Amino acid sequence: MSPIVEVKDLHKQYNPPDGVTAVQGVSFAIRQGEIFSLLGPNGAGKSTTISMLSGLLAPTSGDAIIDGHSITQDAKAVKQVIGVVPQEIALYDTISARENLNFWGKMYGLSGEKLKERVTAVLEIAGLTDRADDKIETFSGGMKRRINIAVGLLHSPKVLYMDEPTVGIDPQSRRRILDTVKELNEQGLTVLYTTHYMEEAEELSDRIGIIDHGKLIAVGTQDELTATVGQYDTINLDIGETAEINGTLVTDLAALEGIHQADGEAEHVIVQAKDANEVLSRILQTVAEHGRSIRRLEIQEPNLEAVFLHLTGRALRD
Ligand SMILES: Nc1ncnc2c1ncn2[C@@H]1O[C@H](COP(=O)(O)OP(=O)(O)OP(=O)(O)O)[C@@H](O)[C@H]1O
Ligand SMILES: [Mg+2]
Repeated sequence: MSPIVEVKDLHKQYNPPDGVTAVQGVSFAIRQGEIFSLLGPNGAGKSTTISMLSGLLAPTSGDAIIDGHSITQDAKAVKQVIGVVPQEIALYDTISARENLNFWGKMYGLSGEKLKERVTAVLEIAGLTDRADDKIETFSGGMKRRINIAVGLLHSPKVLYMDEPTVGIDPQSRRRILDTVKELNEQGLTVLYTTHYMEEAEELSDRIGIIDHGKLIAVGTQDELTATVGQYDTINLDIGETAEINGTLVTDLAALEGIHQADGEAEHVIVQAKDANEVLSRILQTVAEHGRSIRRLEIQEPNLEAVFLHLTGRALRD
């Protein structure tokens, strides 16, 4: 089956010839029915990519085909098949949720009974039917986000783009949004989701593209990506100094049951194990038997954070 979204070597330079090159040769494909996440830190180029894929921002070069329509040749047709939930909330504060939805629905070309029916449906999806006639200015940040999502769903798009929809909101609203994304996807909606939260990408995605400095540095399922950093948990140990460095500590750690490998020198030891928690007590005991203490201990599972660190030498978290 051909992909519903096919991104081909997209580039974007703002204000050429001297401006920032925000996207530098991004290519990926999304299959129908998938949740695909773009995971990357601030300034990685997520929103710039979304704007181009929405037909709102012309690429410097490259193209993307959305459900058969080119973003450079036929942006109008692209806008019919996609829904966009922008990073910045785009709502009028002084009118009600329903009035906002009516306004945006008309912008999408809906009217009459159809408009009424869709507004009712998306309010239900947002879980805000009971607040429909309250002004947006009385809504919490999380509720505004949910109406923002409702706007993106008004014209029943085949593909929904969501640009960091959970930033800066309360945990309940976040939970609700993530569950809504999953439900919509189960009903057949294809989703392109951007985030800088590793946990969200892990929870939601069929496949993930890691983006950094405008480039996709890895694409795959979570398992495929984490396989690139190996299958073992890493335990970083800072060992308290003693009079002399006991050369056998590392060897003794390496010999413990459940430990794949131990490396290190002096005060820093790195242990790899299939299951860090299972071997922790044996490590502590061995260190104690050597008359040493542990100053700091950190467990790193083979997750997307580790993949990002491996690929960039930097942490994904700020
Ligand atoms: N309108 C613009 N004009 C000039 N430069 C821009 C513009 N929009 C974004 N940039 C720059 O392009 C780069 C990518 O920005 P973009 O907003 O696409 O990143 P992002 O991954 O969405 O980041 P965030 O997580 O902060 O939303 C940044 O260096 C940013 O400063
Ligand atoms: Mg952004």
